[in-house]
Parts: sequence; structure tokens; C-alpha cells
Amino acid sequence: GFSHQFTEALLQWNRTENHRQMPWKGEKDPYKIWLSEIILQQTRVEQGLKYYERFIKTFPTIQDLAAAPDQQVFKLWEGLGYYSRCKNLLEAARFIANDLQGVFPNQYEDILKLKGVGSYTAAAIASFAFNQPYAVLDGNVFRVLARIYDIEEPIDTTNGKKNFSRLAGLQLSREQPGIYNQAIMDFGATICKPFPECAACFFSDRCEAFLQGKQLLLPVKEKK
Ligand code: ADE
Repeated sequence: GFSHQFTEALLQWNRTENHRQMPWKGEKDPYKIWLSEIILQQTRVEQGLKYYERFIKTFPTIQDLAAAPDQQVFKLWEGLGYYSRCKNLLEAARFIANDLQGVFPNQYEDILKLKGVGSYTAAAIASFAFNQPYAVLDGNVFRVLARIYDIEEPIDTTNGKKNFSRLAGLQLSREQPGIYNQAIMDFGATICKPFPECAACFFSDRCEAFLQGKQLLLPVKEKK
């Protein structure tokens, strides 16, 4: 069916034409994935890059981060803002180092319990590090799904989120959830952008929004 077609076409595009490179891509260490995703929660990739590199260089393992004085970590975070992210990062690192023998949890429900980790970040860690079938749902994924299916339901309502979340789970590749999740984010960031490159898109001939000239109208938000 249609959902299988998009998933397969996305994975093929990812294998052959996706040249987006970022240091956390293909990373399997859950600590490094977690760190990158916390940084990227409220920060653009281009700005987050140098912070990620500095953190990994200064704290190569979660034990190193857990053992660091608060002030050293806050200093390294300077410029990123939203300091609650940094406080939660330290609290979770110390919890894992002290209460979990330094072993990063490998089950979605346990990852979700970490301070500062929501459903998006837990799905990213579970799929990238452990290849578990949890679909990420971020702004890229909302946009891509709204367009290929022509969904006019607002993405910022309780029901909208529930329906997009269900659809994201159906769309996910069961065989390669981690690769698929990274691929759909890369696709949203490079092709299916807010101002999309439909002429370069492998799916425009089957994209409901493009076929009706509606790609700039989707996704819909209730509040602005
Ligand atoms: N934004 C948040 N997580 C990301 C990731 N893994 N790749 C690219 N952009 C992201």
C-alpha cells in the first residue's frame, strides 16, 4: 500500500542520495545520542554541532559527565540557553552513574523516565541506539506526513497529535527503525522543508499535497 511505498522510497533515497552528515549519525552509544538530542531540543543543528563536539571531548563517557562539578558543565553549556536542559542532563547522568551502575537504560519506558527526556527523545534513543521500533515525531515528521497524505487536521491539538502519532508509528520501518527515523528527519530538513524542493523530491508524483499544489499550506496549525 501507500504507506509501504513511501517508507521504501525514503529508505532508498537515504541509501543513494542523502548526503547529510552529522557527527551523531550512525552513532550507537546511547549516551552520545542522548546528549545530541538534548542539545537539539531547542537549538539548531548548525549551532548545536560545536557544543556537541565540546561535550564529547570533555566528557567522553556518562561517568565523566556525572563526576563533573556543576559549574564546569554550566560553563560548557553557556550560549545554548534553557538551562533546565543542562540541569536535567546532569541529574540524569548522575542517576545513571550512581543508581544504574553507569549502564544507560535500553527500554523505551525506562529511557522516558530520565529527567528532560520526553517521547520524542526517548524514541530517538531507543531507535538509534537499540534499533527498537519507536517512531520519532518532530516538526519534520509532522510536515512530511501532513503533505504526503494531505492531512488538514491541525498538528497542535490533542487529537491532531494523537492521530499523527498513530500514523507515524504505522509509517515506521519495522526492519530499520533507527535508519528510517534519521532518514525522515533528514528528508524534512533538506527536501520537504517549510519551503520544499518538490522538483528534487523522489515522491512528488505520489505526494497528495504536491499533486494539488497545497504543499505550502501544510501542515496546518490551529494557533499562531
Ligand atoms: N534534530 C533533532 N535530532 C536530530 C537528528 N538526530 N538529526 C538531525 N536533526 C535533529
